[in-house]
Amino acid sequence: MLRHLLLAAAGSDRLGRLAASAPFSKNAARRFVAGDDVEAALRTGRILADDGLAVTFEHLSAETRSAEQAVAVRDEYRALLGRLKGAGLVPAAEVSVKLSALGQRLDEKLAYEHALAVCAAATEAGTTVTLDAEDHTLTDSTLEILTELRKDHPGTGAVLQAHLRRTEGDCRELATAGSRVRLCKGAYAEPESVAFQSSLDIDKSFVRCLNILMSGEGYPMVATHDPRLIAIAEDRARWFDRASDEYEFQMLHGVRTEEQARLAAGGNVVRVYVPYGEQWYGYLVRRLAERPGNVAAVGRGLVGR
Ligand code: FDA
Repeated sequence: MLRHLLLAAAGSDRLGRLAASAPFSKNAARRFVAGDDVEAALRTGRILADDGLAVTFEHLSAETRSAEQAVAVRDEYRALLGRLKGAGLVPAAEVSVKLSALGQRLDEKLAYEHALAVCAAATEAGTTVTLDAEDHTLTDSTLEILTELRKDHPGTGAVLQAHLRRTEGDCRELATAGSRVRLCKGAYAEPESVAFQSSLDIDKSFVRCLNILMSGEGYPMVATHDPRLIAIAEDRARWFDRASDEYEFQMLHGVRTEEQARLAAGGNVVRVYVPYGEQWYGYLVRRLAERPGNVAAVGRGLVGR
């Protein structure tokens, strides 16, 4: 019930405007979101890098409904990438990008061109881009754009969602030399025709995908907070004889920070997903919907504790 209420709230423009204008909400968001702008993102990135963690930055923007918005998102990423070296964040930091924010739903070719410009800026900065996975209607288009981008920028990463029934096949396609693949459970509500629905089926699919990626030739990026799946990933990395720089763990900023530190202290690469931008409200509420127990922690943030 709380989850449904929170998801409805996440999609509300009116609540978003109200929340963004209230100074106390920023306190609440701080646990999960770096802040409004590039400066805040770089500050958070530095703190994490000093703790031995790698970073992937994501700019949170409003849904892209015009070509001008897509250009603004492209330029935001180029500006951020242009600052990474000076901030001492190369090679620790890369960026995560939603192709829909670059205009994929308006014009795929335009989104590809913008993504190419972002990848070029990343290569220039000495780092990489990972293309987020969105709902299943965009999967084919995203993987096609990935193939094109990799011709010039082979380090471009993909994200695959274990809840989609197609993903085992996509893992097989993408487990090739040098291929960076983030495996996550999947954050979008999807119909049964295309996606597993129960947690058990999603977890089983995650393990099958993990086996394919860990036994393949690519670079698996294991994005989960789930202790059982993390333990299985550690086991598979040992089983397939992967050195600690041949895979990585990824988690969200503010989520299971002690586990992030434990894995990093054990010699693992741990990359923290750091979102920033003025459109943080929807992101924050989606995190709360995933784990309503966090409402209490954010509530403490609301009153400044
Ligand atoms: P899940 O939320 O199912 O939790 C499983 C278990 O983990 C819990 O039972 C608990 O034990 C533990 N746990 C989880 N949260 C906790 C907390 N706050 N405190 C303590 N324990 C906790 N999705 C997508 O569709 N496209 C994408 O591009 C991405 N990108 C992405 C990048 C990165 C770096 C991450 C970490 C995640 C994504 N995701 C994503 C989101 C992903 O699909 C998924 O929705 C969330 O990671 C939540 O799923 P988990 O695997 O963490 O487990």
